[in-house]
Amino acid sequence: MSIALVILAAGKGTRMNSDIPKVLHPIAQFPMLVHTMWAGSVLSPERTVIVTGHGSEAVTRVAQSEDEDARIVVQTEQLGTAHAVAQAREELEGFSGDVVVLYGDTPFLQPDTLERMIAARSESDLVILGFEAADPARYGRLVMNGNVLDRIVEFKDATDEEKSITFCNSGLLACDSDTLLSLIDAVGNDNTAGEFYLTDVVEIARSRNLTVTAVACDEAQTLGVNSRVDLAAADAVFQARARTDLLELGVTLMAPETVYLAADTVIGRDTVIEPNVVFGPGVSVESGATIRAFSHLEGCHVSQGAVVGPYARLRPGAELAENTRIGNFVEIKNAEVAEGAKVNHLSYIGDASVGAGTNVGAGTITCNYDGVMKHRTTIGENVFVGSNTMLVAPVNVGDGAMTASGTIVTRDVEADALAVGRAKQENKPGYARKLFEMLKTKKARQDKGA
Ligand code: UD1
Ligand code: MG
Repeated sequence: MSIALVILAAGKGTRMNSDIPKVLHPIAQFPMLVHTMWAGSVLSPERTVIVTGHGSEAVTRVAQSEDEDARIVVQTEQLGTAHAVAQAREELEGFSGDVVVLYGDTPFLQPDTLERMIAARSESDLVILGFEAADPARYGRLVMNGNVLDRIVEFKDATDEEKSITFCNSGLLACDSDTLLSLIDAVGNDNTAGEFYLTDVVEIARSRNLTVTAVACDEAQTLGVNSRVDLAAADAVFQARARTDLLELGVTLMAPETVYLAADTVIGRDTVIEPNVVFGPGVSVESGATIRAFSHLEGCHVSQGAVVGPYARLRPGAELAENTRIGNFVEIKNAEVAEGAKVNHLSYIGDASVGAGTNVGAGTITCNYDGVMKHRTTIGENVFVGSNTMLVAPVNVGDGAMTASGTIVTRDVEADALAVGRAKQENKPGYARKLFEMLKTKKARQDKGA
């Protein structure tokens, strides 16, 4: 059966107190909307329609960078969840199959829950996702009659008896596309909030003798985010789960609660992560590597046996080959470091390549930026780059070459050559002693005067 996703993402999220639309706030470095799209992707949707409203442009950008075929509709006025789904009508034209309605602010939805909803569709015309709420608060209540869902009552419209129901509406549903759109046509806004409630489709379906049921999931999966407090709590839940997954995969986390992971972080078996390491998006670490304390990694790849940190920063495009060493206070950006190469102390390597077996001395900098453009530095294999070498890009250093410490390399260095480019040293015998005496006499005179 073909599936179309309709993701509701028009809300402002007033309680976020933010200029950023709610669904773009991140959990583990990825916008909540993207988490929802990932969850929905398990159904291999033929179409994905995103209902935007507040911050529509920004939401569109994020949605389409995740899925370039995502169809965007704009709900200019938020008149309710049924009205939101109705905006997808044009984008659903010519589609036949099931529509699954998702919310853009429920990042914990698990793929198997959606699969269970689709499975339940073989028995019922309309399937609602519900959950047993520990604290039902303001959720809509699911009024069940055996396996049949009779109707959904919004908290605002519920009687005291209905409020005592703890089986609640997640908001997600699955239904044949044409059926759903026709049900939505019949939804009115005669209720306490004056909104077009998507939940009303249940009663309308029942009145048309359609079958309606509810599938249950864990409350944690339907957790919505409405405030920064919720966001922080949701991130914490995500982190705890991701850390446990890594531990179970055979990764050592010395102090798990201090390691911050991104939703797409990949780490291989027997890699050791020391305390206080931050992973930004796009990081993969192979097995048997060590990421030492206080390192920050994003958009990079670390190969087997490499040791990174403590206090290292790997920025996008850093590619570390097997058994490389990146030490303290070293920043690597858009650069490949080949097998066994070492950059151990206080260096910046950007827009560069460092050949196998090369040693980059302390304080080395690739001067990649001239204030307007970026340029590349190529360092060959088995090179010895002396401490405090400035490599003014574009520049190449050939295999087996050396640079003397303090050298400013502005011209290419051929293979096996030694580049020396620094002021010549002069020693003046006895000068130090004379200078010390002069300074001490001066200080003594000042101290007496004071
Ligand atoms: C809704 C459900 C309620 C359920 C709860 C679960 C209805 C009428 N009520 O209530 O039964 O328990 O979710 O969280 O559906 N949105 C739009 N356009 C609109 C209105 C909403 O895009 O015009 C989006 C929001 O951005 C949000 C989602 O739809 O992502 C749900 O809207 P919200 O206002 O939070 O609905 P609730 O009152 O929480
Ligand atoms: Mg809500």
